[in-house]
Amino acid sequence: MKVIICNDYDQISKEAYKVVSEVFKMEKPIVGFATGSSPIGLYKELISAYKSGELDFSSLTTFNLDEYVGLDKSHVQSYNYFMMSNLFDHVNVNRENVHIPSGTGDLDSFCRLYDHEIEKKGGIDLQILGIGRNGHIGFNEPGVPFESRTHIVNLDADTIEANSRFFDSIDDVPTKAVTMGIRTIMNAKSIVLIANGEQKAQAIYNTIYGPVTTECPSSILQLHPDLTLIVDKEAASLLPQQK
Ligand code: F6R
Repeated sequence: MKVIICNDYDQISKEAYKVVSEVFKMEKPIVGFATGSSPIGLYKELISAYKSGELDFSSLTTFNLDEYVGLDKSHVQSYNYFMMSNLFDHVNVNRENVHIPSGTGDLDSFCRLYDHEIEKKGGIDLQILGIGRNGHIGFNEPGVPFESRTHIVNLDADTIEANSRFFDSIDDVPTKAVTMGIRTIMNAKSIVLIANGEQKAQAIYNTIYGPVTTECPSSILQLHPDLTLIVDKEAASLLPQQK
């Protein structure tokens, strides 16, 4: 595991860009994308690299981590809408190669097929992750088995509260989501996890030093052979090297 501690969010985004841009050197890269506030700066870096001619997205295949159940892709808080407006609408990715879980329709069949689709393409080369205050990755909340594949989850009260900042009211936050499972995430060949802010400090400490337990889903990442954690000083504030 590699841990990069940055001075601020801008530096996090630039360090994450260095990791992500490396994978674009592959002939047909397959990247797993996350939503939420953490990767927005990285996505801005990717867009400006496309605009300056540094990165070409035409051979990229993408798989997103998750989507809220019940939100259509046209809903402004859907993760589909998020990906289009924060990245995919601004780069030359082939839409046929973009995969984002659906939050509506036949979710059971979707879940059954998503891991197969990833495997059929050859597996994810690099998975981008954020992390919840409770250590969730994707929407795998505490207690989800480490061997889980893409499935439907009930969101924790803490996650609903944290994400209510994006909605008019907490009652509008969906209570369920479709998410890649922990095994799906661990199958990625490499992983980069981005976290900023003091509210992520305990989760980051547990990710690196906690026991490997489903009570903190991100703790399983200790067993991943190619993990880079990119955090700011606040998110790193409980780490021994910062004390
Ligand atoms: C999003 C996702 C979540 C977020 C996490 C952190 O696709 O899978 O695990 O990464 O909830 O969200 P932010 O970045 O908004 O703090």
